[in-house]
Amino acid sequence: MQLTDQNSYTIQGIDPIQLINQYGSPLYVYDGGTIRRKVSELQHAFAGINMKIKYACKANTNLSILRLMREIGVELDVVSPGELEMGKIAGYTGTQITFTPSGVPFEEVRSAVESGAVVNVDSLPLLEWFGQTYGNTKPCLIRIKPNVAAGGNVKIMTAHADSKFGISVLLLDQILEVVKKYDIKIIGLHQHTGSDIKDAEPFLQVADIIFETAKHFPDLEIIDLGGGFKVSYLPGDTITDMDLLGTKISERFKVFCEEYGRELQLWFEPGKFLVSESGFLLVKTTVVKEDPARNFVHVDSGLNHLIRPMMYGSYHHILNLSNPAGAVKPYNVVGYICETDTFATDRELPEVKPGDILAFLNAGAYGLTMSSNYNARLRPAEILIDNGQATLVRRRETLEDLLLTQMDL
Ligand code: LLP
Repeated sequence: MQLTDQNSYTIQGIDPIQLINQYGSPLYVYDGGTIRRKVSELQHAFAGINMKIKYACKANTNLSILRLMREIGVELDVVSPGELEMGKIAGYTGTQITFTPSGVPFEEVRSAVESGAVVNVDSLPLLEWFGQTYGNTKPCLIRIKPNVAAGGNVKIMTAHADSKFGISVLLLDQILEVVKKYDIKIIGLHQHTGSDIKDAEPFLQVADIIFETAKHFPDLEIIDLGGGFKVSYLPGDTITDMDLLGTKISERFKVFCEEYGRELQLWFEPGKFLVSESGFLLVKTTVVKEDPARNFVHVDSGLNHLIRPMMYGSYHHILNLSNPAGAVKPYNVVGYICETDTFATDRELPEVKPGDILAFLNAGAYGLTMSSNYNARLRPAEILIDNGQATLVRRRETLEDLLLTQMDL
């Protein structure tokens, strides 16, 4: 989003307020140019090695975004039959899709294998089932839990000792026993440390653990180091230095490949890094309440559309698109849901009036995909702006959509 000389905001030259006039409020808007740029940044940082990007599509499963990713050479990481199906609709086939389940019914794994996807086995019971079912006929990856805590928020850490994800690296002997028993073809080791990880150090630490573990698996083709790169939330925020990370990891990866005796592929599966900054949730101010304690700005949205501030205490920068140059005042920006759904506390915003359009930044990842119909509210429409063209890529939900699964009509 750019502020023009005329003091109005635009996305690829398009006025977001016009989009609200045309498609209604609230509205998710994605800038395809940002997604393309983020993909190039990652490719550039790892240009010296054989690196593949597997987009963790739980961040945003809009089919147009999945198609865009496919067109620019990004493959897919999915966690459910639903995501897998969406990947296929978007044109992904076979091993372009990795299935990274978390304690799912084994039948889901079977259908993923049947569809040609590569599976990331995340528990010893699943490994045992996989061996019994497929022997050495279907290759798979193993998700290792390296027992490393990284990132600032324990709710989105996934590799510390207490985390439910993956098979603890301390169980390596048992893993090897099951692999040997069924002659399972392990083609990759995977780990995902968590989300919002800024420093290179934890990535290097887990990489070393995985490289060390890899020495016990002679048939590897892939090392998958997951996602979790931190993006910018606050103006001037420090983020993962991708070029530095690329240089450091690539160096170690090359040494590892030499020791291993073969050139492997390095996979990353970012979600946020690729789509967070591309997205904006545009909302309309309903009521401005000047309470003795606080100034409240109510908007026509809430935790049903963007739950990250309430769930993780996440900061989402807010712009007043209708009054960019107004005098700044502190506000609590709150939703219309009958719960405490505070988007921002004591936030300095240019004066807000009822009817003003606000934009929540960083809404491209874990925004609409984590939305709900709580309070029988409907989900917003989605717009993708790409090559200077705004396209409706999801229509707004209707009451009929909401009633569709109820039986007593
Ligand atoms: N790979 C695996 C196995 C994952 O579980 C995840 C995210 C990713 C990759 C992508 O992580 P990312 O690059 O997006 O950080 N809803 C939370 C984030 C939870 C992420 C869950 N797993 C949020 O809004 O902050």
